Amino acid sequence: MQRPLTAATVGVARVVVTWVNGEFGALSGICNHAGGPLAEGSVEGEYVVCPWHHWKYHCRSGAGEPGYEGDAVPRHEVRVADGRLHVSRDPVTRRSHGEHPSHPLARAVERAPGPVRVVGISTTNMDMEHPRYSTSDALLADAMQQAAALGAETRTIRLAALQFRACEGYYSKAAHACTWPCSITQMDPDDQMDQVYEAVVHWADVILLATPIRWGSASSLYFRMAERLNCVQNQVTIANRVLIRNKVAAFIITGGQDNVQGVAGQLLGFFAELGCHFPPFPYIAHSRGWSAEDMERNVEVVQQSAELREGARALAARAVDHANLLLDHDLAPHTTARGGRKAHQLVLDEIGEEDRPVTGQPVTR
Ligand code: FES
Repeated sequence: MQRPLTAATVGVARVVVTWVNGEFGALSGICNHAGGPLAEGSVEGEYVVCPWHHWKYHCRSGAGEPGYEGDAVPRHEVRVADGRLHVSRDPVTRRSHGEHPSHPLARAVERAPGPVRVVGISTTNMDMEHPRYSTSDALLADAMQQAAALGAETRTIRLAALQFRACEGYYSKAAHACTWPCSITQMDPDDQMDQVYEAVVHWADVILLATPIRWGSASSLYFRMAERLNCVQNQVTIANRVLIRNKVAAFIITGGQDNVQGVAGQLLGFFAELGCHFPPFPYIAHSRGWSAEDMERNVEVVQQSAELREGARALAARAVDHANLLLDHDLAPHTTARGGRKAHQLVLDEIGEEDRPVTGQPVTR
């Protein structure tokens, strides 16, 4: 046998047989963290590396990597006899879980008392050291001012000012490889998407999102954020857990190109899947359309348009009104009861009680 890692089944237990530096070992094939398949991982030195978020276990003892020895997966006895490898049916050590501080975002989502809270998210991209006039930004500022005038607490996030990675496809590895909080957020302290998660999941009652139209679509920064927010929506799919409740989303869409309705449709669909509600007439928009490429004029038109500014303020007022309604009546479900996007429960691999991962464990190592 030449392969360093081989998947096997002993009785009902999934194991990974290791062959490292001329010695066999056999460990539980299920990672402590979120149940990742260790047999599909890799070997680094004497450690098996989980393919999902890279926790490591010693290839023969099952102990966690140095500093995390308490995170051990069960070890099975191995013996070579008559040219065959024998693996004990029962493990000879038990699974153990080390202490891990949980990520601040992992706390229960509980709305603190206080007035309606509005987060404005500007998705337009620009050189933040040399900012330019942005029509979507300017209308968002009008809307936020109106929200504050109505007594709301406000906070604005400019995606262009944040450093955050694109989604790296943990869900594409396996449903449970996509975690809440996001695996990247837990592994990379420099990633600033945590500011968006904190505002959208824990803080805000209203999400006012402003985007330009780029080639008929929302801003690329919007899509990068939306992909990262997928972990919030995946909690509905994989854990029947609704993180976004009684929150309102509304949109400001502006562009020198057309396709307002296409952009609005995408935004509405995505935020609906997150669990958001919408006020009547949930977006305002402005576009120069095909006939004019005179963007200098476009800026001037928006700057001088009292109607657009009034529209932005009215949008904020509708969103705040709707948020107050939801706060008074608590209309959102806590679970989807199969009403989610897939309308059925996910079929997952059966894992025995003993091998269940500890849910909510931080990914950080
Ligand atoms: S499931 Fe193994 S590291 Fe996350």
